[in-house]
Amino acid sequence: MYLVFGSTGNVGRHVVSGLTAAGARVRAFTRDPARAGFAAPVETAAGDLKDPAAVSAALDGVTAVFMATSADALEHEAVVAEAVRERGVGRVVKLSSVAANAPVTDSYGRAHAAAEEAFAKSGAELTALRPAGFAANVLQWRRSIAGQGKVFQPYGDVARAVIDPADVAACAVACLLDGAHGGRAHQLTGPEALTAPQLTARLAAALGRPLEFVPVDPEQARKGMTQAGMPADLVDGLLASMAEPGPLRGGVPTPDVERILGRPPAPFETWLARNRDAFAG
Ligand SMILES: NC(=O)c1ccc[n+]([C@@H]2O[C@H](COP(=O)([O-])OP(=O)(O)OC[C@H]3O[C@@H](n4cnc5c(N)ncnc54)[C@H](OP(=O)(O)O)[C@@H]3O)[C@@H](O)[C@H]2O)c1
Repeated sequence: MYLVFGSTGNVGRHVVSGLTAAGARVRAFTRDPARAGFAAPVETAAGDLKDPAAVSAALDGVTAVFMATSADALEHEAVVAEAVRERGVGRVVKLSSVAANAPVTDSYGRAHAAAEEAFAKSGAELTALRPAGFAANVLQWRRSIAGQGKVFQPYGDVARAVIDPADVAACAVACLLDGAHGGRAHQLTGPEALTAPQLTARLAAALGRPLEFVPVDPEQARKGMTQAGMPADLVDGLLASMAEPGPLRGGVPTPDVERILGRPPAPFETWLARNRDAFAG
């Protein structure tokens, strides 16, 4: 039995469907089973990561775990690591981030690195997936695109090798099914590094309408994210990740996806084709 945390997320939904397609038995952990809408043969485990009893119960009969949760809930992964240790689960594939690559410079990277360490000490065979930014992050632009035909973003000159979350999930499924990846950290990127203005231009082409890219001062972005309720140290970490163009932070394509899947990562257009409707209205 495979247990998927973050089962309703950008990556987790594809992990659930990928494992199911491979014939594996899957249990999906979620706080809201009705909203999640999983159907047989997928089992659903209702619970919150903050609740050790719910996490432990969900691990009953589980041999391998996919671990993902939202960026502001990473401290709760320690609850899962402890339950994995107690239950003697054999394999964990953790969705981490390029921010966990040394040198870890911010709280976001530290949270992922700490969770990786907790799983490494749990006795399970750990594979860390450290992806670059997700193609799905452009969904954050929906409102300004719908209302103004504009994209507001800091660090427009920094290119990122954004990855389709479906490719992250395909790598996760491969690592869950094949023990050869134990003890490794994979750097997952898309096939090319693109700046926010380039992503905007491709989005405009896919939507068939003009879009204007508007550079935003990082301090203004910090204020907006903090006012939207994000913890200040998480905002610092996310902005630091966005500012860093180097290979350790997802600014340069890596060969890891192709090594794992035997095919290159999908271009941004593949994600766009699946998600164009999300920008309607
Ligand atoms: N976005 C990026 O560019 C990027 C890049 C690299 C790494 N990452 C990492 O990817 C992870 C996010 O993955 P994602 O985008 O697939 O997820 P997502 O779409 O943000 O969804 C979050 C998932 O976490 C679950 N969750 C959140 N809090 C929970 C709690 N207290 N108890 C139980 N479940 C909880 C949610 O489940 P329910 O709501 O159903 O309970 C949902 O399935 C983060 O760790 C982030 O740092 C993101």
